[in-house]
Amino acid sequence: MAQAEIHYDISRPDQHDADAWAELHMLECQALLADLTDVRLGDDRRTVHDAVSFARWGDPDRYLDTHLDPNLMVGNELNPDQAFWEPHVVRALDGDRVVGYLYTAMNVSGGGLAQVLKRGLGTHTYLWQRTIAVHPNRRNQGIATALERIELERRPSRVNTRIYGYPQLTPRLFEQLVDRGLQEVGIRPHAKPFGTDEEVPMHVMEANIGMLKRRGLKSEDEEQTLVVRRALKDVEDRLAA
Ligand SMILES: CC(C)(COP(=O)(O)OP(=O)(O)OC[C@H]1O[C@@H](n2cnc3c(N)ncnc32)[C@H](O)[C@@H]1OP(=O)(O)O)[C@@H](O)C(=O)NCCC(=O)NCCS
Repeated sequence: MAQAEIHYDISRPDQHDADAWAELHMLECQALLADLTDVRLGDDRRTVHDAVSFARWGDPDRYLDTHLDPNLMVGNELNPDQAFWEPHVVRALDGDRVVGYLYTAMNVSGGGLAQVLKRGLGTHTYLWQRTIAVHPNRRNQGIATALERIELERRPSRVNTRIYGYPQLTPRLFEQLVDRGLQEVGIRPHAKPFGTDEEVPMHVMEANIGMLKRRGLKSEDEEQTLVVRRALKDVEDRLAA
């Protein structure tokens, strides 16, 4: 199937039913299995178990609940004193089958008054890119680039976007974040991405959305450019309708 035949769909998390979420959860697992089981941490090859733990495969209810409302993770999987709003999903579809998705939400840190002020002024609020996953058979066709581009077009250019990276777990992916212009703004040394006691440093990577938009597409490939243009037009038409 040509990349040009992929179509994109944007929606709020609560617009999907449980089956649609189960499909996204499965896709995330497949994507992580392809990457995580191919890297080493110290002397240990990561296992299938690690990959499915990372994606919380054993707890579909938690996956669903925290995607409908990411605030449920505050003080648990994520640091306390922060809030999320406007969670959003972009899906890449091949026919009816989802082959990629991006989940984002707006985020502000700080408690009480600081949070209210930052949100009110629009300063120090971030677009958190929680998950991007593309099916292993559909890699390097520009799908992730298109998903991100569609999402960034909807968001204000002045806002920064944050992605959490794990250089020890997925070094190549981390390098790609740096190549794409994201800069490290902090390290959380005691992150527990597998939901177990194992600690892996998590690097908070950040870039301005306007800068990412200006950098534009990484690839000069004409077909890819065409696909992203079409997808953006689709999204604009639907938003205008
Ligand atoms: C990272 C991933 C989404 C890229 O998907 P893709 O559709 O193959 O990417 P594209 O074809 O648009 O982009 C090609 C290039 O940009 C990189 N890229 C694009 N979006 C990216 C992103 N959000 N983060 C990191 N790298 C990205 C690609 O890896 C690739 O790099 P290369 O040119 O050095 O080979 C995919 O490899 C994947 O699903 N990985 C497993 C899931 C995962 O670890 N997600 C990130 C954490 S949630």
